[in-house]
Amino acid sequence: AYFTPFADAAAAAAAAEPLKQPFVIGVSGGTASGKTTVCDMIIQQLHDHRVVLVNQDSFYRGLTAEESERVNDYNFDHPDAFDTEQLLICMGELKSGQSVNIPIYDFKNHRRCSESFRKVNASDVIILEGILVFHDQRVRSLMDMKIFVDTDADVRLARRIRRDTVERGRDVNSVLEQYGRFVKPAFDDFVLPSKKYADVIIPRGGDNHVAIDLIVQHIRTKLGQHDLCKIFPNVYVIQSTFQI
Ligand code: ADP
Ligand code: C5P
Repeated sequence: AYFTPFADAAAAAAAAEPLKQPFVIGVSGGTASGKTTVCDMIIQQLHDHRVVLVNQDSFYRGLTAEESERVNDYNFDHPDAFDTEQLLICMGELKSGQSVNIPIYDFKNHRRCSESFRKVNASDVIILEGILVFHDQRVRSLMDMKIFVDTDADVRLARRIRRDTVERGRDVNSVLEQYGRFVKPAFDDFVLPSKKYADVIIPRGGDNHVAIDLIVQHIRTKLGQHDLCKIFPNVYVIQSTFQI
């Protein structure tokens, strides 16, 4: 065998260099709490970085013919309504720097669009948003930072009625019935108990500019540390702790 010092040195340097993995943020909270709005505000402020948003909604399971016939009896707020295995595969690929095709969900017809996907490219920051993204331990363990958007239930219900009647093709009665039968009980049983996993709780969602500024500062610090590690692989960055 030939001794190839250059190749060995390059391999050693590559091994010594920390792998630059994307910074993964989970954003959870009840329906219409402002999760998407908060994510959009974070993305806007991080315009100089590559940031992608992944919605848990994209991983709703398809309904069987029987379930479709009785869609008003279907619980879209239970963890089993999501294809978490597929979500884990997509997130794993994105985390390892690959681009993925993410399904597009059609709320009017309760199904994934069969022909079209959204192509999501490798990024510096991945934001995963959804009512139940803190429920499964395997999904939680992908996250470097967990944010819970905390908005009063009456505000959320009012927003949900407006959104579902205007954008999701529902009538007021069906929204109220679904809310009482499924949305509120599942919030109490699954969403609220997962709040304890959050690192940061944002009261009032997108209205809370101070919280969003602080979160963006933190992400920038973390991304800066990534870059420093790349330039000086042998220098340890010592984290400081702030008290506000
Ligand atoms: P989620 O992603 O948690 O379901 P969204 O961010 O999509 O919540 O917001 C749900 C609805 O409420 C949307 O129609 C949005 O325009 C509206 N909304 C969100 N935040 C606010 C706010 N701070 N003030 C008024 N309306 C809001
Ligand atoms: O955007 P948001 O977080 O509110 O989306 C989650 C909500 O979407 C759930 O509370 C669920 O009741 C609702 N949903 C629905 N119909 C579907 C899929 C989800 O009403 N087909």
